[in-house]
Amino acid sequence: MSQFYLLAFAIFCPFFLSSTEGRFHGLSNFRTLFTAFQISLPPAPAPQAASPSYYTISSSPSPSPSPGPSRIFNVQSFGAVGDGIADDTQAFKMAWDTSCQTDSSILVVPAGYVFMIQPTIFTGPCKSDLVFQIDGTIMPPDGPESWPKRMNKRQWLVFYKINGMSMQGGGLIDGRGEKWWNLPCKPHKGKNLTTLPGPCDSPVAIRFFMTSNLTVQGLKARNSPQFHFRFDYCHDVHVEMLTIKSPALSPNTDGIHIENTNNVRIYNSAISNGDDCVSIGAGCYNVDIRNITCGPGHGISIGSLGVRNSGACVSNITVADSVVKNSDNGVRIKTWQGGYGSVSKVGFHNIHMDNVRNPIMIDQYYCLTRNCSNQTSAIYVSDVSYTNIKGTYDTRSPPMHLACSDSVPCTNIILSDIELLPRQGQFVANPFCWNAYGEIETLTIPPVSCLSEGTPLFMAQGTIDPC
Ligand SMILES: *[C@@H]1O[C@H](CO)[C@@H](O)[C@H](O)[C@H]1NC(C)=O
Ligand SMILES: *[C@@H]1O[C@H](CO)[C@@H](O)[C@H](O)[C@H]1NC(C)=O
Ligand SMILES: *[C@@H]1O[C@H](CO)[C@@H](O)[C@H](O)[C@H]1NC(C)=O
Ligand SMILES: *[C@@H]1O[C@H](CO)[C@@H](O)[C@H](O)[C@H]1NC(C)=O
Ligand SMILES: *[C@@H]1O[C@H](CO)[C@@H](O)[C@H](O)[C@H]1NC(C)=O
Ligand SMILES: *[C@@H]1O[C@H](CO)[C@@H](O)[C@H](O)[C@H]1NC(C)=O
Repeated sequence: MSQFYLLAFAIFCPFFLSSTEGRFHGLSNFRTLFTAFQISLPPAPAPQAASPSYYTISSSPSPSPSPGPSRIFNVQSFGAVGDGIADDTQAFKMAWDTSCQTDSSILVVPAGYVFMIQPTIFTGPCKSDLVFQIDGTIMPPDGPESWPKRMNKRQWLVFYKINGMSMQGGGLIDGRGEKWWNLPCKPHKGKNLTTLPGPCDSPVAIRFFMTSNLTVQGLKARNSPQFHFRFDYCHDVHVEMLTIKSPALSPNTDGIHIENTNNVRIYNSAISNGDDCVSIGAGCYNVDIRNITCGPGHGISIGSLGVRNSGACVSNITVADSVVKNSDNGVRIKTWQGGYGSVSKVGFHNIHMDNVRNPIMIDQYYCLTRNCSNQTSAIYVSDVSYTNIKGTYDTRSPPMHLACSDSVPCTNIILSDIELLPRQGQFVANPFCWNAYGEIETLTIPPVSCLSEGTPLFMAQGTIDPC
């Protein structure tokens, strides 16, 4: 749902940065940023070393034993109080600047304290690799009324242009989202479960922007007003052992969203929330997601892509060895009509579904307003394999739903080792396919008779795949 805003978000980003960060450096950087945004296609992916050992936690330095004490900066030595009431923003900024200008430093947020921080942009580049060690709790001001008036309401903490950072620790990022979720503009928050007009912007808790070689590890995040973690224009990102929790009915609280970001590993994490567990937006490639437990929530999504006739290229995405439970969707690809580009080389492997409404879903008719017009252009979906997807589905909808574009069929959809049983009762709904081509490699449960074999004879002219 939230994906509605994503494009605008990325595009307006420079303004956010400039308006919220005094240290932002003038017009030339503005130009650089805009130039960056005009690059709609990422350069050819640099081959990354395969990383078979994904279950081992990477060897990020742990603060206490190794480096000399002079490189450890505790926010409290910069005046942070940590009583959950005092405004610790300036202390965090000073601590950041100092650590950022020091070689191999560790910025420590100590356990046992609660730090209230206003919306802030932590800017790089830093002198060398930096560890942001969060052992205590950090939280923003409580709700829209307390948000500083001149501050952008779409992001809380932003990490911008940093290379080689590890954000880690056993601490808690508490987004205090409740007052934001209850804004009348949020879905079903008006009278009679309607959605009313009015200000709706809500902050992403932690946002990484144009940041690379980044590890985010061990932290707990809860109750974000909007997405919990968001990565834009980043590369070489490793997410490990995160626990993300928000209520099932909290709107737009995606766990991890990536966009225009590549070489991403998301491993060993558990996410329950009110929207997508992990969502993958335009311009992402080389993404490996393993051992994630999702639910309740809306499952793992590629998309939504192609909103307002936009282009999107997504490829080489693997989701494996994961569990999705009590969710609206399992693994989903969602695109709007009228977009262009492609989604290709996607593998969903070894995924256990437990009471999931639409375990396997391709929806090329994604539409939030219910009056989207039919269009001929579409994002081309191809080479998607589903292997060893087992478990139970909620019988209100078919367990497999492959609704491909009228004009641009999906091709090379591979189904292998699928076993989806109704959670209770009978098989009520047959798998649904529309314009979907591919192969069934082993008998599936339930049987799929709607997938067309081979390749389509006809693909609409004018389908441009710029990827
Ligand atoms: C990436 O960061 C790690 C530590 O965070 C550092 O050891 C490594 O040299 C960095 N690699 C690059 C290519 O910057
Ligand atoms: C809510 O529904 C009730 C009963 O259906 C109706 O009387 C009332 O006018 C509705 N209120 C609004 C704001 O639509
Ligand atoms: C999978 O992730 C969970 C955390 O969600 C972790 O406790 C568990 O050890 C991981 N499993 C493997 C095989 O690494
Ligand atoms: C696909 O992504 C994986 C990482 O998830 C990477 O190791 C692999 O090299 C990529 N494949 C291609 C063809 O780029
Ligand atoms: C769909 O409906 C919304 C509100 O009802 C309206 O603002 C929008 O213009 C409509 N879109 C189309 C394509 O008709
Ligand atoms: C779109 O196409 C479908 C199927 O061809 C048709 O049922 C529907 O009425 C069309 N909608 C519009 C708005 O033209």
